[in-house]
Amino acid sequence: MEEASQHPSAEPLHQVRRYLLTPMRSDDVPEVSLLERRCFTNPWPESAYYRELREPNRNYYIVLRWQASSSEAEPEPVVSGGTLARLFRMTRPRTSTQPVVGYAGMWVIYGEAHVTTIAVAPEHRRLGLGEVLFLTLISEAIRRGAEVVTLEVRVSNVVAQSLYAKYGFTRRGLRPRYYSDNAEDAYIMTSPSLRDPNYRQQLLELRDQLLARLTAEGIEILEEAA
Ligand SMILES: CC(C)(COP(=O)(O)OP(=O)(O)OC[C@H]1O[C@@H](n2cnc3c(N)ncnc32)[C@H](O)[C@@H]1OP(=O)(O)O)[C@@H](O)C(=O)NCCC(=O)NCCS
Repeated sequence: MEEASQHPSAEPLHQVRRYLLTPMRSDDVPEVSLLERRCFTNPWPESAYYRELREPNRNYYIVLRWQASSSEAEPEPVVSGGTLARLFRMTRPRTSTQPVVGYAGMWVIYGEAHVTTIAVAPEHRRLGLGEVLFLTLISEAIRRGAEVVTLEVRVSNVVAQSLYAKYGFTRRGLRPRYYSDNAEDAYIMTSPSLRDPNYRQQLLELRDQLLARLTAEGIEILEEAA
């Protein structure tokens, strides 16, 4: 199928667009790698993902699949609450192939979470899905007891920097010539303390804004039950 016909806006307007958020598994890696090559100029080799997935205690990787047909999963009732523990509705484990349209990951070591990657397929951008992935990483970092989240981002990547700034991240340093493909510098960006009650409150507000935006756009995010 041609890429243009995969665009979510090609669906009838009244139809709910569902995305399924799942932990990344090794059978996701070939598809993740294909998407990675579309999104990054210096993609990781597949072997790097297989290696990462062997250490789930230190790493956390997720994928977002586009569930083009709404008949594939019947969601369970909404679980709501005042914490970031459960962001989206649960659904049954995936049973059929839905294309990977986003993914993200991080290391969580010695009280620090370090985002290693985040990407959304070009034809699914500007829908809030980058935020879905990023907020999911932050809430998992909180769940694992991390103190802060940090990351590197190309100095030219103003789009990603804008996403991180929206979530309170600030520039804390520069890594000169960090990227091997073009020797570009990286900014180091870091979150406020994840234990700061004011930041927790800000995250809850951002989550509520995100959920309202997704609802307004007719987008439903389902989380795969373990
Ligand atoms: C960065 C990326 C993941 C954002 O994904 P997305 O689904 O389009 O992002 P969202 O729709 O959730 O937007 C969230 C925020 O990101 C920022 N943003 C997203 N697209 C933007 C754009 N074209 N211009 C400026 N800011 C943008 C905004 O702050 C936006 O918040 P807003 O909607 O309130 O303005 C996506 O652009 C991507 O995959 N880029 C290529 C890979 C990459 O650079 N990854 C980061 C490596 S450090």
